[in-house]
Amino acid sequence: MSDTIESVLQEKRLFNPPAEFSEHARIKSMEEYQQLYDKAAQDPQAFWAELATNELHWFQKWDKVLDWQPPFAKWFINGKINISYNCLDRHLTTWRKNKAALIWEGEPGDSRTLTYAQLHREVCQMANVIKDLGVKKGDRVGIYMPMIPEAAIAMLACARIGAPHSVVFGGFSSEALKARLQDAEAKLVITADGGFRKDKIVPLKNAVDEALADNSVPSVANVLVVQRTKQDINMQADRDHWWHELQPDASADCAAEPMDSEDLLFILYTSGTTGKPKGVVHTTGGYNLYTHITTKWTFDLKETDVYWCTADVGWITGHSYIVYGPLSNGATSVMYEGAPRASNPGCFWDVVEKYDVTIFYTAPTAIRAFIKMGDEHPNNRDLSSLRILGTVGEPINPKAWIWYRQVIGGDRCPIVDTWWQTETGGFMLTPLPGAIPTKPGSATFPFPGIIADVVDLEGNSVGENQGGYLVVKHPWPSMMRTVYKDDDRFRRTYWEHIPPKDGNYLYFAGDGARKDEDGYFWVMGRVDDVMNVSGHRLGTMEVESALVSHPAVAEAAVVSRPDEVKGEEVYAFVILEGTHTASDELKAELKQHVGKEIGAIARPGEIRFTDALPKTRSGKIIRRFLRNLASGEELVGDISTMEDLSVLDKLRQG
Ligand code: WT7
Repeated sequence: MSDTIESVLQEKRLFNPPAEFSEHARIKSMEEYQQLYDKAAQDPQAFWAELATNELHWFQKWDKVLDWQPPFAKWFINGKINISYNCLDRHLTTWRKNKAALIWEGEPGDSRTLTYAQLHREVCQMANVIKDLGVKKGDRVGIYMPMIPEAAIAMLACARIGAPHSVVFGGFSSEALKARLQDAEAKLVITADGGFRKDKIVPLKNAVDEALADNSVPSVANVLVVQRTKQDINMQADRDHWWHELQPDASADCAAEPMDSEDLLFILYTSGTTGKPKGVVHTTGGYNLYTHITTKWTFDLKETDVYWCTADVGWITGHSYIVYGPLSNGATSVMYEGAPRASNPGCFWDVVEKYDVTIFYTAPTAIRAFIKMGDEHPNNRDLSSLRILGTVGEPINPKAWIWYRQVIGGDRCPIVDTWWQTETGGFMLTPLPGAIPTKPGSATFPFPGIIADVVDLEGNSVGENQGGYLVVKHPWPSMMRTVYKDDDRFRRTYWEHIPPKDGNYLYFAGDGARKDEDGYFWVMGRVDDVMNVSGHRLGTMEVESALVSHPAVAEAAVVSRPDEVKGEEVYAFVILEGTHTASDELKAELKQHVGKEIGAIARPGEIRFTDALPKTRSGKIIRRFLRNLASGEELVGDISTMEDLSVLDKLRQG
């Protein structure tokens, strides 16, 4: 990359939506966005009620839009709805019946397309099979699957009969699976013999066997197994059932159960500050509405779009933006079993080219991996079908943003940087691509209906460009309802860090942020990642962005360690670009470079060269471990989510 990249703080570039694009967009201008935003802010209940009426099918209308007993919200009280009906049945009476609902690309190169009619049929069959296995409305079902259509089919089948699902990412260990199944008291587990992951087979069924061994999850009575990898597995006669043996005899007739709007739709576990994962609870009506409308407006969805979100269904991104949001809109959603890696550096771009993907949604960590693998891979493919790019999961550094725009988006595709969380269910801060000019690294503005702010610990709005806590001031339809079986933890984690202000309860997201002079939100990362150096607030991300803007740096992770004089000191772990070698001169140069990019205050006290960073299987750097290493402490915390345990050993050995 030729441009020298400024730090996040200095980032001033503004990219207007192309006039061509805006002209055909659902929301065409900043004025239109502002009108929507104002309308929603003036009367949120009327705003959401109108959308719920126009966008979704209800078996029975609600009596009341919102019941807010802080921090507990209920939306569309007494409304009766089924999200599987909204994702499937209602499309079957339109031309979408024979439209591709899911286009699936398998890792070994196999592929499958399911039309809405075909997907509906399989969902009904699986719903009947799991009913026969004793699952009733309200029973929880664990889903531990590779990225194959049956993962989505299983979710929709559960939703259809009102059995809340708890999807556990297929990369989690058997221990992690066990803990989640126990907490949810799952009655059934839906899994596969195995999954293909980065040139290896993940033995999913073995992991289920281990999780259930010694009757450690007594609630689980049956396991439904999808055949994928065909290696030998153990099938326990009284417990395990092959899907391909039961499916042929299963009826394709299964009416969608009218669910109460507030009935539990799913539990999804996410890491908190303590060791035990939290079961984030989402209910039906509000979640359906919010994921539907955010998909439609943020991706400017058109009937002809081919939409691809690269996440795994094991994460909230897969729930909301591979399965429920796109299908509720009758879109074509691409599902991919593979993952980018050195042995297949062009895999994403092959999929884009093969299916003429128009909307592409991925994570900064993937973007940075592709930068490292070289521009020749995307440059060798025809990516001209793309019209919108999206990013999610962590703050995106301007260098990666610009590369994404130029190399993948051919300088013509708006980028939507979507800030949200497992807890929020859907996008909270995001550009609307035809309306909002973007700045590299900013998630721009709140989605209409979301009242967000950056506040101090007393709940006062902070000034322009001042760091603070990102909060949401009004309940929204897809907000988490509670922590499963733990209302107290819900209250403590999200509602008690900051006291109510002017009668508003403030949802505490756990992220630091600032608003710039134009009102743009810049998310700086988790609050536990925000450093305070000599009384100055500094995002680890800003320092990382500065470091990676140096040509020698491929990736950087920054933490802080205690310092007697400054309070905290910046400590940087740095991975060098291929041809560069570690040296004291380079350390000095990098420190100086950061000083130059942001200011002397951000200069790392220490830089440590490494060839790998500890990451979760979803690609997030585990900063906790880096903080431990930086301050010479023992490692604290759960290592079960780590991608590669040897990385820790190497770092410990220095
Ligand atoms: C945390 C939530 C929600 C999808 C995947 C992650 C960070 C997420 C952004 C973004 C800056 C982001 C935040 C948030 N995050 N998106 N666009 N810009 N930060 O879900 O695992 O629940 O993590 O991811 O820190 O709190 P999650």
